[in-house]
Amino acid sequence: MTHRRIAAILAGGQPGETLTVTGWIRTARKQPKLAFVELNDGSCMQNLQIVIDAATPQYDAFLKDLSTGASLAVEGELKESPGKNQRIELHASAVTVIGTADPEEYQLSKKRHGFEFLRTIAHLRPRTNTFGAIARVRNAVCWSIHSFFQSRGFLYVNSPIITTSDCEGAGEMFQVTTLLRDESRESRVESQKSEVGGQRSEVGNPSSLISHPSSIDYTQDFFGKPASLTVSGQLEAEIFATSLGDCYTFGPTFRAENSNTTRHLAEFWMVEPEMPFYELPDNMRLAEEFIKTIIRDVLDRCPDDMAFFNDRIDKTVMETLRNILDHEFIRLPYTEAVEIIQQAGRKWEFPVEWGKDLQSEHERFLTEEHFKQPVILFDYPRTIKPFYMRCNDDGKTVRAMDVLVPRVGEIIGGSQREERLDVLIDRIKECGMNPDDYWWYIDLRKFGTVPHSGFGLGLERTMQLITGMTNIRDVIPFPRTPKNAEF
Ligand code: 4AD
Ligand code: MG
Repeated sequence: MTHRRIAAILAGGQPGETLTVTGWIRTARKQPKLAFVELNDGSCMQNLQIVIDAATPQYDAFLKDLSTGASLAVEGELKESPGKNQRIELHASAVTVIGTADPEEYQLSKKRHGFEFLRTIAHLRPRTNTFGAIARVRNAVCWSIHSFFQSRGFLYVNSPIITTSDCEGAGEMFQVTTLLRDESRESRVESQKSEVGGQRSEVGNPSSLISHPSSIDYTQDFFGKPASLTVSGQLEAEIFATSLGDCYTFGPTFRAENSNTTRHLAEFWMVEPEMPFYELPDNMRLAEEFIKTIIRDVLDRCPDDMAFFNDRIDKTVMETLRNILDHEFIRLPYTEAVEIIQQAGRKWEFPVEWGKDLQSEHERFLTEEHFKQPVILFDYPRTIKPFYMRCNDDGKTVRAMDVLVPRVGEIIGGSQREERLDVLIDRIKECGMNPDDYWWYIDLRKFGTVPHSGFGLGLERTMQLITGMTNIRDVIPFPRTPKNAEF
């Protein structure tokens, strides 16, 4: 007997074949003489219908254990199904209940659950239709990302997770230290000692240590200076782009911004291509081609899952995606965007003026209502963008670009990089940073500098665009947000 996954069976299984399947029960309809089980193994949205008649060995013994969530191995023969929901079904000759699931305790009953509740059971939610589809689409997006760059000869570079430089200069980094560990271990010992003495010592409270950062001597820390989780792999990608040519990083990034929105995570995945000899228009062209390719690949590889999202999550999702594929992205200077927003004749929560960063409400107005398609905004004021972006001759703007898409807003942030040594050093100082801390980054401008560009695409925001899911916490397996790192 061959063991096959349900997706392959439903696609190519022929009546008369005998095989074994394994999976988890989605639903079971039990009768004294006959049982029907909908079995799912995660390989696709559809279940395989299992027909079990009372002649199956041990029928009376296992019947009570056929309940939602239980795991099964079934041997049997494929037969044409008389039902209209499926082409074939499996008629069991032997059934083994591998693990039972007590219906009194199992939290995923048949009825639909709210996403908020499902977040509290993130260890079980991949067993639902929605989260199974999200996992498969996320996998397809990751495949498409690698395939897009690999087929264009880009080099995949693994940038470090732990870093001592702040790429975005926004001070939103999670610190990595062993000092506190050593101290809190010592203080635990201390507090145990003092508890033995009958009195609890204040030294035992680690938070009293955190609140005195100025007393910390980082030369004693693991890396000998303050270190953090990276907010971006860009600076390291630039090293490889200016040595080996087109490259990309793809990995987790971390931001300690305390924003509880539907578009922000403390830990998210970012793809960052970096290309030598690219100027801003080349960068835009690549970004547009990249987003369109991902959408095309997912529509191609996950038709059932996408049909589900369009049917059950957001009825406009397919139309939005097709519309993106069918049109060229708008390219619009920041300055013109500000004028459009100011002339929109509506009341904004955050009024816009030249020099201010655009808020989500403005970005979404531009892409969803005004243009009704993706917009690439460029040439932002230098004062609201990081040190590494190339300065324009007007002295006011930098060669930044943000790609805005319907429902999500900013999905890509990128720029042409400042390749001129003196301008870069001035910009680092202007941003209140110390050029000595970026000596190696500056070196790239001393030795064979070239114009170059790159961008970062947020994986989870891409998932929101493609699936129509409104909350970013639902498109990553285990979301990390303020006060939330369970699982
Ligand atoms: O615009 P950002 O901050 O750009 C960079 O980090 C550059 N270093 C990229 C580069 O040029 N190589 O972030 C890029 C993208 C955003 O457009 C957004 O899609 C996503 O990363 N992103 C987040 N996604 C989820 N949660 C957050 N807190 C995010 N912050 C940024
Ligand atoms: Mg950005």
